[in-house]
Amino acid sequence: MSATTTTQAATLAEIRRIVGAAGVVDDAQDAEPYLIDHRRLYRGRAALIVRPGSTDEVARVVRACRDAGIAIVPQGGNTGYCGGATPDASGSQLLLSLERMRAVREVDAVNHTLTVEAGVILAEVQRAAEAHDLLFPLSLGAEGSCRIGGNLSTNAGGIAVLHYGNARELVLGLEVVLPDGQIWNGLRKLRKNNAGYDLKHLFIGAEGTLGIITAAVLKLFPRPRARATAWLAVADPEAASRLLAQLRGACGDVVTSFEYVPRFALELVLAHIPGTRDPLDTPREHYVLVELMSATPDESLQAALEQALADALAAGTVLDGTLAQSEDQRRAFWRLRETIPEAQTRAGGSLKHDVSVPVSAVATLLARGMQAARAIAPQARVCAYGHVGDGNLHFNFQAPPGQSLEAFVAAHGAAISSALYGEVVQLGGSVCAEHGVGQLKRELLERYSDPVGVAIMRTLKSALDPDDLMNPGKVL
Ligand code: FAD
Ligand code: MLT
Ligand code: ZN
Repeated sequence: MSATTTTQAATLAEIRRIVGAAGVVDDAQDAEPYLIDHRRLYRGRAALIVRPGSTDEVARVVRACRDAGIAIVPQGGNTGYCGGATPDASGSQLLLSLERMRAVREVDAVNHTLTVEAGVILAEVQRAAEAHDLLFPLSLGAEGSCRIGGNLSTNAGGIAVLHYGNARELVLGLEVVLPDGQIWNGLRKLRKNNAGYDLKHLFIGAEGTLGIITAAVLKLFPRPRARATAWLAVADPEAASRLLAQLRGACGDVVTSFEYVPRFALELVLAHIPGTRDPLDTPREHYVLVELMSATPDESLQAALEQALADALAAGTVLDGTLAQSEDQRRAFWRLRETIPEAQTRAGGSLKHDVSVPVSAVATLLARGMQAARAIAPQARVCAYGHVGDGNLHFNFQAPPGQSLEAFVAAHGAAISSALYGEVVQLGGSVCAEHGVGQLKRELLERYSDPVGVAIMRTLKSALDPDDLMNPGKVL
């Protein structure tokens, strides 16, 4: 045994003592889900999988790893799309799951804040807010299994960004274990704090490369007392963008969600998700799911939406539509939107692109992206849908009928992706919208970002993590 191996073995034994028996995953079968990413693109190995129970334990584990030169991969709910939470294949990295840190440390209903540990599942955060008649508005399809530390580390987006912003906008303070094992206590509950650099934003969206988020102070909002939800057929994507602007003009800041669903995506859902049905009698090519929310029990919300839609119908922007008349119907509309990823998986999987452009350029991107892809693979089936209210499209492609996804991607994947990303960049967009970079999009970040910006990122990384021990091989 070399001296290094002996030190590492001693360190791993020390780490076992720090976290105790409940904090170690030893059984090979139990370990499996931690080592494969949600999309099954990556499979890693780990020297040890630990689940510390407190910030102090996290800090002691990190210090021990730093001293022995062991790299750490933080993991939340492991629902990320870019392989950020999966260790490499060397078997030398330590996987640190935050899943045992699930305490709600404080609810301050007057300050409208919630202080939670990083391992709290997003749906539990939402419920903790609701228990105090308040709202935590971050909402996404994986909310039953993703964890708030992962949401902040990926700066998650989801379905209410139009009104409430990304995860970044929903945070007042953080507690972070730094790569050298120090604990940064930035758990402030302040809405104004200009005491120098705003350090929390360094760690939000850093995907675990600058430190481990152990707790956060989240912003809460008044709970919506009125909602109006509509499933609409629109003339084309251009009409969808016009409708969004008209609705915001007519109804104001209450427009909370505005999601685009093409017919192809709806048909995948209807075919693969049990219990779903088309809300409209006549099939159309383009749909939007619109939701308005208000904190006052305002019956005029529904009336305002109806009036705006009547105007849009008269103008030919909207072709058809239906308003949810009950909570069940509202949920049914949302199910049609939120099960698109699952339907795509059941239909054989897809070549995914998570991109954003200015809202005003969404229709152009849809047209150009489809044209570019069809020039490469005329039979490719485009499934481009998403959060068009904030300019974020999931521009995905299913293989032609009869061809496997693997064969389709091998033949055309690189050319389609490169053509699509070219269009995105030309329109002033981003090739990493809400799902982050991880290990999947590292080269894209380098290729499509401003080189000075990438150099600043490297400077920050080497200042905070000079030995590259915090989630190496991710983002940069
Ligand atoms: P993980 O996957 O465990 O980790 C993600 C990254 O964060 C990794 O790099 C990991 O190392 C790091 N990390 C995790 N916890 C910490 C921590 N405490 N400290 C430091 N680093 C940490 N995303 C969206 O943005 N919008 C959507 O609408 C959306 N919809 C989705 C729908 C489905 C069905 C699925 C499966 C995923 C969806 N996602 C969406 C992607 C995913 O859910 C989000 O990226 C989510 O925020 C990841 O959280 P997690 O806890 O699973 O993180
Ligand atoms: C969504 O908005 O449905 C997700 O971010 C995209 C996906 O899960 O593929
Ligand atoms: Zn999304």
